[in-house]
Amino acid sequence: MDLTEIRGKYLAAVAGAAGEAALEEVRVAALGKKGEVSALMATLGKMPPEERKTAGADLNALKDEIDAALRAKKTALGDAALDERLRAEWLDVTLPGRPRRAGTVHPVSQVTDELTAIFADMGFAVAEGPQVESDWYNFDALNIPPEHPARQEHDTFFMHRAAGDDRPPHVLRTHTSPVQIRAMTEQGAPIRVIAPGRVYRMDMDQTHTPMFHQVEGLAIDRDISMANLKWTLEEFCRAFFEVPSVELRFRASHFPFTEPSAEVDIRYSNVGGQLRIGEGDKWMEILGSGMVHPKVLAAAGVDPTQWQGFAFGMGIDRIAMLKYGIPDLRAFFESDLRWLRNYGFSALDVPTLPAGLSR
Ligand code: PHE
Repeated sequence: MDLTEIRGKYLAAVAGAAGEAALEEVRVAALGKKGEVSALMATLGKMPPEERKTAGADLNALKDEIDAALRAKKTALGDAALDERLRAEWLDVTLPGRPRRAGTVHPVSQVTDELTAIFADMGFAVAEGPQVESDWYNFDALNIPPEHPARQEHDTFFMHRAAGDDRPPHVLRTHTSPVQIRAMTEQGAPIRVIAPGRVYRMDMDQTHTPMFHQVEGLAIDRDISMANLKWTLEEFCRAFFEVPSVELRFRASHFPFTEPSAEVDIRYSNVGGQLRIGEGDKWMEILGSGMVHPKVLAAAGVDPTQWQGFAFGMGIDRIAMLKYGIPDLRAFFESDLRWLRNYGFSALDVPTLPAGLSR
């Protein structure tokens, strides 16, 4: 049996196949059930034994040779396809970043920088304290004894204590007021500080999130009064909101750590989701305040017969919403890039009083 011609034909067809489909056609024509080589194999049965021996060996060798050629070609075609894709989908990862994608400063950070600039101008330094706070700093030192209802009102997150450890658990601070105690203990009086930072309460709706931001203010000297508090807050709001006038409403209130106490609301309007301050018929509570309670001064080692002063705690997120017309507080902390691009600030516009706060 002369297989030279058939061998040449199929090896050439394999070599010339342009793609996987053409290659498969070659395979079927040669080695498929009805293929030419398979048909020759089927004739072996009718041959005399001597002839069958050599013809069978030749046919098997041919079958293996074509099969090997098919496999090699298939691999080569796959490699070529991959090379082609790599060429077509080439990407230069060393290109510089595009400025359009630059990060932005979050409104909370922007507002914190703005209010720090304003209070620095009035002589307030920045003080800090931990977010995981002992219950003494968060409550007791602020004249909130263990059974006081204010502890419940704060919807406190408690830290875990090991089994058998029955000291009172630490808390996620529910307000920035513990920084009053820390700052006075460290620096004594007179003192003028603000303490911006994160605080935590179990609360969630359109105007409350479990984590939010406050700035504490504290001014202690020999003759500080409620009048100084009122002036400071009005002056702050005018500068902060960058408007000629704002309207504040002082409401008598109660905090264990101040006496007397006042909550302060600011006038604003909400027209179709657009918030504007200084006009309209709505009031938003933005802070709690009062004259620091003598027991609080004493707890921080400041002599209440010599010193007195005011404190306030203001919601940073609240005043950010008002100033920049942001209707929903929850969106502040969802890290939605579209929101951040819309409400974020350029990292190069650092707020200062002489250069302007927000431009
Ligand atoms: N700590 C109070 C609160 O979170 C606010 C406050 C601070 C009130 C300082 C008076 C003085 O509600």
